[in-house]
Amino acid sequence: MSERTVAIVPAAGRGERMGADKALLDLAGRTAIERLVATCLAAGVDEVVVVRRDGAAPLPAGLPARTLVVPPGGEMADSLRAAHGALAPDVAAVVVFPVDHALVEAETVLALLATLVQPGCGIALPLFRGRPGHPVAMTREVFAEIAQSGAVLRDLVRRDAARVRVVASANPWVHADLDHPEDHRAAVCALHGEPWSTVAQMFRHRSHRAYRPDPLPQSQLERLVDAARYASTSSFIQAYSVVCVRDQQQKAQCARLCSGQAHITQAPVFFAICADLHKIAAACGRHGAALQAQSFELFLQATVDASLLGQNLQLAAEAEGLGACMIGAARNHPEQLAALLGLPKHAYVVFGMTVGLPADDPIPRGRMPLAGVLHWDRYDTASTDVVLDGADAGMRAWSKRTNAERGGYQGKPVSETKGWAERMAAMWGGDSSYVAARKVLVDELRRLGFGIE
Ligand SMILES: Cc1cc2nc3c(=O)[nH]c(=O)nc-3n(C[C@H](O)[C@H](O)[C@H](O)COP(=O)(O)O)c2cc1C
Repeated sequence: MSERTVAIVPAAGRGERMGADKALLDLAGRTAIERLVATCLAAGVDEVVVVRRDGAAPLPAGLPARTLVVPPGGEMADSLRAAHGALAPDVAAVVVFPVDHALVEAETVLALLATLVQPGCGIALPLFRGRPGHPVAMTREVFAEIAQSGAVLRDLVRRDAARVRVVASANPWVHADLDHPEDHRAAVCALHGEPWSTVAQMFRHRSHRAYRPDPLPQSQLERLVDAARYASTSSFIQAYSVVCVRDQQQKAQCARLCSGQAHITQAPVFFAICADLHKIAAACGRHGAALQAQSFELFLQATVDASLLGQNLQLAAEAEGLGACMIGAARNHPEQLAALLGLPKHAYVVFGMTVGLPADDPIPRGRMPLAGVLHWDRYDTASTDVVLDGADAGMRAWSKRTNAERGGYQGKPVSETKGWAERMAAMWGGDSSYVAARKVLVDELRRLGFGIE
């Protein structure tokens, strides 16, 4: 008789924290249980047994798995005990694979099963950054210990360290649970994202100013803004809002108010990232209080909150293969833009953002030397001259490459002699057009409901 391996999927809970049956969560077009079963079969597991509570919603039709029904209200160990009782005699190994870990890949299951056959190994589990996770593979003999009254999976792992082997995994989902709605959103994002890390993505940033006309699905736009708003927020005030402009006429009007930047009209989406005290004003009103709209601190908090959301949004978009460009020109005519977008009192557009599939390939701008930004224990001004020299050299090198390889920037040649310092001096070292353009900003913000005293 050949020896078989069975995966046991405890999926009998109500998913109360998730607010949904976890087995049936949609993970980028497939339910969690479909994904998990496919993973097991791809790893050579002979049979998958899904433990469901009596009365649970049916699993997807045609799922290549056996269902075992248990009474409602039990713990995971009760599901495992029931599965143990139902094991066929030829089963030599089991993989306990909670549905929470549906994003674990077949490679991990394969590695666990390969480890389990090593001499002396009774249990194999994955380790993510030193933390044990799921699924857990074990011999039938070890699994039999679950039948003892009161035993839980953890006891089996802790009882005898000598029989436990670990398999290092780079997949955070071996450790992370699908417990809360936010975990579900993170899982969906992970499945849509590119396979490089967040930090690698940050280093790859470039502003894009030309886009393909393809519209972006509403579900993607929702996901990006939803994820972006998980940025930290001052005292939990969440003083921001986002207007997503897709209508061509409306985008053209936005572009007109943002110094006519063509990429605003061209991009399928223009986001207006707003500092927004409207909801806090309404909250104050509900409780018989008046918003202290004159507070400079509150203006700053709302502006910082909106900026953090905006940066998160750009990073999220980039992680899904889109391009974006922030649009500070949204502060050229704050009152007109607020009126166009129908913003309530106490809201202004801190900056806009074009988003879409990129149609350009800009030369990365790089940044000034790190010594100008990162100081250890105390600010070090001694390096300033070296930093400015480095920033100048970086700017000139970028200009040279942009002219040579892209025929200039936005259709025009860039000066290859001007460095960063000279450009800054021209922008902010006198009464430049740049300074003049924003002279009325404070008055406009006051009229929009930010006192800034
Ligand atoms: C708040 C903010 C406003 C910006 N406004 C504009 C803008 O109106 N138009 C534009 O083309 N780029 C704008 N940018 C993009 C910057 O020009 C760009 O980030 C900078 O030159 C560095 O280039 P990189 O993003 O490609 O690394 C803005 C960036 C920020 C952070």
